[in-house]
Amino acid sequence: MSEVRVPEGPTEVASTDGRGRLDLLFEPSGRKVRVPPGVFLFDAASWNGVAIDSTCGGHGTCRKCKVQVLEGLAPITNLDTRAFSIEELRNGWRLACRIEVATDLRVDVPPLMTRPKAATVGVGRKVILRPAVQKRYVELTEPSLSDQTTDLDRLFASLDDLELRPELPVLRSLGRVLRKSDYKVTAVVIDNVLIAVEPGDTTERMFAIAFDLGTTTVVATLLNLTTGAPVAVQSMLNKQQPFGADVITRISAIMMDANALEPLTRLAHETLDELAQAVCEEGGVDPSEVYEIAMAGNATMTHIVLGIDPEALGVAPFIMSTKLFPEVLASEVGVHVHERARAVVFPALGAYVGGDIIAGMLASGMDRDSRLRLFLDIGTNCELVLGNSDRLLATAAPAGPAFEGAAIRCGMRAAPGAIEVVKLSAEGVELRVIGDVEPEGLCGSGLVDVVAELIQQKLIDASGRFVSDEEAARLAPGLAARLTQLADLRVFVLHWQGNVGDVEKSIFLSQRDVRELQFAKAAIATGWHILLEEAGVKEEDLQQVLLAGSFGSYLSPASAVRLGLVPKLPILRIVSAGNVAGEGAKMALLSLRERTGAMTLLEEVEYVELSDRKDFNDQFVDQLAFPV
Ligand code: FES
Repeated sequence: MSEVRVPEGPTEVASTDGRGRLDLLFEPSGRKVRVPPGVFLFDAASWNGVAIDSTCGGHGTCRKCKVQVLEGLAPITNLDTRAFSIEELRNGWRLACRIEVATDLRVDVPPLMTRPKAATVGVGRKVILRPAVQKRYVELTEPSLSDQTTDLDRLFASLDDLELRPELPVLRSLGRVLRKSDYKVTAVVIDNVLIAVEPGDTTERMFAIAFDLGTTTVVATLLNLTTGAPVAVQSMLNKQQPFGADVITRISAIMMDANALEPLTRLAHETLDELAQAVCEEGGVDPSEVYEIAMAGNATMTHIVLGIDPEALGVAPFIMSTKLFPEVLASEVGVHVHERARAVVFPALGAYVGGDIIAGMLASGMDRDSRLRLFLDIGTNCELVLGNSDRLLATAAPAGPAFEGAAIRCGMRAAPGAIEVVKLSAEGVELRVIGDVEPEGLCGSGLVDVVAELIQQKLIDASGRFVSDEEAARLAPGLAARLTQLADLRVFVLHWQGNVGDVEKSIFLSQRDVRELQFAKAAIATGWHILLEEAGVKEEDLQQVLLAGSFGSYLSPASAVRLGLVPKLPILRIVSAGNVAGEGAKMALLSLRERTGAMTLLEEVEYVELSDRKDFNDQFVDQLAFPV
């Protein structure tokens, strides 16, 4: 705190509202915000769309975030005394990024003079750059007999606006680095910890890696923390695949043999590290220049990557070991980047609404948007979130493996050779195949398309049954020949392999496949119907449906509506949100505020347990039918 003694400005002290909230009033906009005590005014402002001047993003280095406190208490900090005259301090001028809110405040915000550095990430979210990692270049005076200040104190004196703690490995090399570089060094700081001191000016080289840790696929994005721009992206199949395709089979592997946890953890580490090295190579970045990583994954993947036994997640009552995971070093999850790099692990709301969904909510701004929206991440397990800035409800529905191509006779994963788009018309069948090659099977989006098209052509009725040959010949003569039998199984042939009429070798949709899809669709539709009911709103009140994840990106909104998989809304309101888990992980690396936002979501979201609901079975049965 400063030595300068000036009045604290207006001193009307208001207590919190009993729920631990304080009122902030920003002038001249008149914007009112309620915040918990202890948040920084600068953060509270940017969270709520009040722009305060800054080029350092709240790190306390630019001294541009000047505001005038008109009412309330804002003690003067060290940095304030350097940024303002005594007269200004007396008039309540403070740096917003140093004001830790402890009372109600009324603050005047001057117009913007500079544009803060920002990056567009997530679903059109603009994030002001304020990574946890920061670098400071300093030129120190050399010690002498008349100045025997220690190496560490010498360094800290030049960084006195930060309250730093050193790490032992830094101290081990500090003296050597200082003397070798003529006392011109760059300090690398994460939060308040000095993790490294590098020779010369390396402030332009600062990177991080965001991981979307999927059960099937893992995606890594290398980010430049000085610009917020992605430098390289790589993905690969999770090396845990041999242990099973989904989380349940991986948990079962551990249930059957506790020793399976070790190889599963190791394989996750190998996947992450291989990707880390690949993005660094692609981006021309030395791995030692990566100071932080973030991982967003479902609860099972997160448990396994940290070496925590996930067994209790697999059986009722589905208990996680923890919602919040401790901060670890990147090296502890097998990622070989800077030796002191941190790993940020996204928290999980529940066993089946994991860190990937928290990251997705963050990326899509679910808790900040006033529009009523439904977020759907469709996979073996479907996660659903409904709500807006007033209230958020989440649940998980067991959709089964149909959308991943499993349990479907000619099903396959979305890979080259998979039919991903199907159009049926009086003239016949039009297919789009991944990789433009000869079709080998049907992936999830193709499955949804073909059933939706068959309903449209009236070759499948509301109950999900293929119509008779006679009806087919009458209703769709151009397609009727494709509706045929394979032994006692009724099938619709999408692509003849070899001779026309050789059903066995062809790619087809069977009556049993339609049933599988119906079960998956019914589970998901039951989920969102129950959430709508809980929230007391109707399907038509929804302003947007966000389809998250890779399946969501390829799913045709029109087909999804036709099946009743998503609410019946105008097609333009059904939006593919893409890899939102990865986007959320990127945001947490680019902005400390967003990282805090992920933690806040844990408290804001209400979890609705579907299996607890007495009406679940009735609703499920109702939802088996297709809307025709
Ligand atoms: Fe830069 Fe406050 S935001 S000093």
